[in-house]
Amino acid sequence: MKFYITTPIYYVNDEPHLGHAYTTIAADVLSRYHRLKNDDVFFLAGTDEHGLKIEQKAQEEEKNPQKFCDEKATKFKVLWNNLNITNNTFIRTTDLKHKSAVQKILQILFDKKLIYKGEYEGLYCVGCEEYKTKTQLIAGKCPLHKKMPELVKEDCYFFQLSNFQKKIIEKIQKNEFKIEPIERKNEALGFLKKEKLEDLSISRKKVKWGIPLPFDKSYTIYVWVEAFFSYLTGIDWQGDCKKIPNFWPPDLQLMAKDILRVHTTIWPALLLALDILLPNKLFVHGFFTINGQKMSKTLGNVILPYDLINKFGVDATRYLLLAQFPFGQDGDISMERLEEKYNSDLVNGLGNLVARVLTLAERNFTYFSNGNDIEIKKTWKEYKKTMKNIQLFETLKIVWNLISFCDKYMEKEKPWEIKDNPERLNKILSNLLERIYNLAIMILPFMPETSEKIFTQLGIKFEGFKKNEQIEFIPHQNLVQGFKIKKGENLFPRKHKNKKTLKQKNTKIILDFKF
Ligand code: MSP
Repeated sequence: MKFYITTPIYYVNDEPHLGHAYTTIAADVLSRYHRLKNDDVFFLAGTDEHGLKIEQKAQEEEKNPQKFCDEKATKFKVLWNNLNITNNTFIRTTDLKHKSAVQKILQILFDKKLIYKGEYEGLYCVGCEEYKTKTQLIAGKCPLHKKMPELVKEDCYFFQLSNFQKKIIEKIQKNEFKIEPIERKNEALGFLKKEKLEDLSISRKKVKWGIPLPFDKSYTIYVWVEAFFSYLTGIDWQGDCKKIPNFWPPDLQLMAKDILRVHTTIWPALLLALDILLPNKLFVHGFFTINGQKMSKTLGNVILPYDLINKFGVDATRYLLLAQFPFGQDGDISMERLEEKYNSDLVNGLGNLVARVLTLAERNFTYFSNGNDIEIKKTWKEYKKTMKNIQLFETLKIVWNLISFCDKYMEKEKPWEIKDNPERLNKILSNLLERIYNLAIMILPFMPETSEKIFTQLGIKFEGFKKNEQIEFIPHQNLVQGFKIKKGENLFPRKHKNKKTLKQKNTKIILDFKF
């Protein structure tokens, strides 16, 4: 089965932050899981590179906007590379193939008479060089420039968004365009049913850094309109509605709640206008705060992705972000809690279990004697269910329950005390090794390097599941080679309080990247 997954394409003018990393890590975990299931996966990431703000920032830095975008986009690529993200493509809205497809599309919409010329009246902040909606203003003033915006009229082109409102509601209600979790579906249906969608102004006269409107080159195309099409141009669509790439439609589009509205109005309307299938599912996750507050430079509470990578290592960063709170809800993180979780779940949990069992097994283990472990089977069943439902936090809980189960089992059986019953000792170690082996597969999508380290220590190669074989419990009979145990160094070095800059030995930060 195909599995096409996307993250939003992030604004290139921002430094890649933890919010971007959160969505992208989640998308990577799901991509790796689907690859494990032998699905044909395509994972799209990218950057949104046009618009006034980028134009202005480039000017501030005295750079040509393309050069500015090139440098900024590289930062995202490098971070994804450092976080072991396995995106199949990195689409940039300044890519030639994107620009030419978008122009073709706008021409098609114009020829279909779904775009018309009209007059836009709006509140314009000269300081921001941007139209403001009433909700963006505080006491009627621009919060940044503390000035009342002017009422401005401008000729522009409109897309007939209002035509598609009924159809979008219908598609969402029939689950042909799924929105999850359910609260977000209700939220989308709420505003779609309550407010009348206005036609959308899709052209900008004042913005020079953009894609020219094909039928009137004195305008550029509104960034949101063109940005959406990156989900299509990223899989090499050339703008021909009759030739849609095989990966279409997306099986899953991940994003946070800030962009739910545009993804349930403009985005489906554009696709419906072009007779292109809608995505199967949008999954909308929450926002996180730091110590109860919005992450902000002024508050000085910003945690950067590299702060975590330097402190905990890549795999632990991936784990810690997803193990904080349920994916889909808002949540709070703090450096202290991340550190606690690192010590409890990774150092004392997974790392300690593997170290204890392998130390004993290196000396005493001779052959396998089990193969039908109920605990492992139960864990796989719940694992698959939660993964299917994109409950990544719950999946991790389930896996960590198996780790606690093994800890308790060891405490009960005390294998280190068995001196003269090799049969019994071997049986206990077999059970534990089999569980660790299955644990290593379960954590593979989340912590691929750790998973690999465990396989190496077990002396076994995990070749993946056979084609069409369901992802599930692997009994020892399937392990042709058996285990050749060679305990290596501890999986997770212990972190001590107040030692803020402890560097993980194995973390290599790559500073350059070529895609
Ligand atoms: N360029 C548009 C998206 C166009 S898609 C056709 C955009 N870019 S953005 O850089 O602002 O990225 C928004 C996304 O960043 C969110 O939807 C989410 O995926 C991620 N996050 C940004 N801040 C976040 C948090 N504080 N918490 C969780 N995720 C957040 O919008």
